[in-house]
Amino acid sequence: MDPLRNPFSPGAGNPPPELAGRDELLNHARILLGRIKNGRYEQSLMMVGLRGVGKTVLLNRIHEIAETQGYETVMIEATESRSLPELLIPPLRAVLIELDKMEGVSSKVKLGLRVLRSFVGAVKIKFGEIEVRLDTDPEKGKADSGDLEADLAELFTAVGEAAQDRKTAVAVIVDEIQYLSEAEMSAFIMAIHRVSQRQLPLVLVAAGLPQLVGLAGRSKSYAERLFQFPTVGPLTEHDAIAALRDPVIKEGAAFTVDALKEIVRQTKGYPYFLQEWGYQAWNLAEKSPIDKAVVSRATVTAIKKLDGSFFRVRFDRLTPREKDYLRALADLGPQAHRSGDIADRLAAKVQSIAPLRAGLIRKGMVYSPAHGDTAFTVPLFDDFMKRTMPDWKQTLS
Ligand SMILES: Nc1ncnc2c1ncn2[C@@H]1O[C@H](COP(=O)(O)OP(=O)(O)O)[C@@H](O)[C@H]1O
Ligand SMILES: [Mg+2]
Repeated sequence: MDPLRNPFSPGAGNPPPELAGRDELLNHARILLGRIKNGRYEQSLMMVGLRGVGKTVLLNRIHEIAETQGYETVMIEATESRSLPELLIPPLRAVLIELDKMEGVSSKVKLGLRVLRSFVGAVKIKFGEIEVRLDTDPEKGKADSGDLEADLAELFTAVGEAAQDRKTAVAVIVDEIQYLSEAEMSAFIMAIHRVSQRQLPLVLVAAGLPQLVGLAGRSKSYAERLFQFPTVGPLTEHDAIAALRDPVIKEGAAFTVDALKEIVRQTKGYPYFLQEWGYQAWNLAEKSPIDKAVVSRATVTAIKKLDGSFFRVRFDRLTPREKDYLRALADLGPQAHRSGDIADRLAAKVQSIAPLRAGLIRKGMVYSPAHGDTAFTVPLFDDFMKRTMPDWKQTLS
């Protein structure tokens, strides 16, 4: 069918034609933002889920909701290489400058700018050059101790007070938050704790891979009281069907029931894969309704495409030993597995592969759903590993 009218949108962060199954979470976010803006208490939000479940899409949607509610927003994506201050300073500067532009002079906003200037001065010493222009003097003795935990709390407090003075609120939205170091996560949690104790209108909405829960807990034991950690998972069959069916109906076409069920079976309801299968099926179909035979062909092209991109980019970042580890994990099946069983498959000792596992967790390839267990963070990665390293068993021992 006409590729120009294909409604599906596979790809990181691409808004889907139908955002299925996320109403409850979005309503919760709406209430959270509304309450914080009114100076009321509500736990901040850290959404937890595997790759491709739609976390970034949700954060973008929440960003829009925050803007309609009159929030000033700071949106950042943590990475393995950049530090938290480096990421936060430019958008916080933009927010303060925005607050400064509003009618009348606010001494709280001016103070906020000076505190930011102090913070920049302090982190400069630690992280080297950070390029930011701020035409203001530093506020001596505020956010300039060089201790990130103390300084970030003072900075967030100053920003919160500035926003409060302007009768607005600030949403700090962080994607891939599992990439923060323990010290950064600690400082972040402490800063949010401080602003929420003071009932300042500043809120954190974040998302990341499942390892973020352990990271937050290790960083600050009270994190679990401060945050909610809703799980963003695969869609139920009902929602997955809606995600496929409704956009196609809007284009005046349809899937057969068998075709829908087959896509749900192949994708296990994972949003990214639903988009990919829907996209391929539409393009391969000669006419509506799109039937199961077309879906079978779409499965071949979708897997080929994923193998060359989504899975491949992650595979290419692995060392040979990491590949072996993941191949052994794949051999055991898609669920979580005990370190002992993985070690056995590798004919190695648990202790000797522990650093390998830790490295893979840091890279965001695997996580630990329970102590001593390991599972893939990328759905269907086990099948990919088997396809890419088919002769692996022979290379063992
Ligand atoms: N609720 C949903 N229903 C249907 N498709 C979705 C949904 N959420 C996300 N998607 C699709 O899934 C893909 C991955 O979304 P993304 O937000 O990048 O996932 P993540 O950040 O969790 O890795 C995108 O192609 C997006 O269009
Ligand atoms: Mg994402």
